[in-house]
Amino acid sequence: MNIKTFATVIFAFGLYLTARAQDSAAGSLPAPSTKTGVTYATDIKPIFDHSCVKCHSGEKPKGHLKLDALEGILKGGKDGKILTAGDSANSFVVKAIAHITDDDDDYMPPVQNKAHIGPLKPEEIALIRAWIDQGAK
Ligand code: HEC
Repeated sequence: MNIKTFATVIFAFGLYLTARAQDSAAGSLPAPSTKTGVTYATDIKPIFDHSCVKCHSGEKPKGHLKLDALEGILKGGKDGKILTAGDSANSFVVKAIAHITDDDDDYMPPVQNKAHIGPLKPEEIALIRAWIDQGAK
């Protein structure tokens, strides 16, 4: 391999690493699930109970946001509403769980948390999107 080929290979590898780093830093938005009749009680409560309720319930819920019942979810938190029924792509909660907010402090669950609660799976985000698009009932 001559020096020019070698430089090209190194350069290409650099581009690849940069692209990969950007990929993992910011998330992408999974398409809404095609499931119909999605409701909080049947589809969404189990997801929130598993991944959110530890911090978002009780006397002092984080961000003044209660996620253990539909009422609290629709009410929102200290910064106001977290979703717009019928418009999941522009709902803050969707951006937070899909890691597409401007500030990575807004990622939910927080990336580093003592409870070791991991990020939502793409299928779960897809279901939450379908639920919001179908009116957040
Ligand atoms: C380990 C604790 C923890 C878990 C688990 C967690 N959150 Fe949070 N959440 C926080 C904290 C802390 C804040 C407040 C951040 C702040 O004060 O700016 C917050 C704030 C929020 C906010 C913004 C509320 C507002 O009005 O400012 C939303 C939306 C949110 N969380 C959604 C979720 C969702 C959805 C889940 C589950 C998928 C989740 N969170 C899981 C700790 C957690």
